Amino acid sequence: MKSFLFVTDLDNTLVGESRALAALNDKLVQHREEHGTKIVYATGRSPLLFAELQNEQQLIEPDALVASVGTEIYFNGSDTADKGWWDKLTPGWDREAIIAATAHFADLVMQPDSEQRPYKVSFLLTEDSAREVLPQLKKSLQQQGLDTKLIYSAGIDLDILPRHGDKGLAVQYLRSLWDIEATQTVVCGDSGNDISLFSQTEERGIIVGNAKSELLQWHNENPADYHYLAQAFCAGGILEGLNHFGFIE
Ligand code: GLC
Ligand code: MG
Repeated sequence: MKSFLFVTDLDNTLVGESRALAALNDKLVQHREEHGTKIVYATGRSPLLFAELQNEQQLIEPDALVASVGTEIYFNGSDTADKGWWDKLTPGWDREAIIAATAHFADLVMQPDSEQRPYKVSFLLTEDSAREVLPQLKKSLQQQGLDTKLIYSAGIDLDILPRHGDKGLAVQYLRSLWDIEATQTVVCGDSGNDISLFSQTEERGIIVGNAKSELLQWHNENPADYHYLAQAFCAGGILEGLNHFGFIE
């Protein structure tokens, strides 16, 4: 067995099936001890909502936390975001101008203050409205020269991020920092904000059996033999996929 980089989304990917989670945690802790495997959480949650989840669930301490849809990285439980990553997100990012531009769209409902972050502006938007609003919003931001990325997840969450920020790009940053090959990296997810994890290079990918339609649709349109669609849900699906790729036995 060799060390690998394990990256997982939290809600409805790592978390959701508590018995499988306990079994997976044991395997990962052991692998980290024996082989130096790195464990990374890549979540849409802010550090505040991540702390809430930590209180509710049995989560092992990650080597790095990628929070706020890839726009913040915290190493070894630190509460100070990595400055090197933020420096990459800064060019072209104008938070105030983005908020002003979104004010014209009545269907966009601001998410709670805790989820408005230095490099992330987030709204709730119904699926019905999204069809019309997303293309218009995209155009409007472009016309104002605002270089952003829109990520729509689970038929409700809209995140506006810097062009160079998302979960997948944050993982590329970690890979180069830790010097880990794409083929020794495995990423796991269930919804729209995880698509970037699967669409970088040749990272091994595990799509849990309970994945949302937007990720399944993306997977159908972009098939790859290094992406595995699990049968089992949440941590059960991750265990299945790690076995499939031979990362654990
Ligand atoms: C998490 C975040 C929220 C974000 C969503 C989808 O729920 O708290 O702000 O919109 O993930 O990325
Ligand atoms: Mg999720």
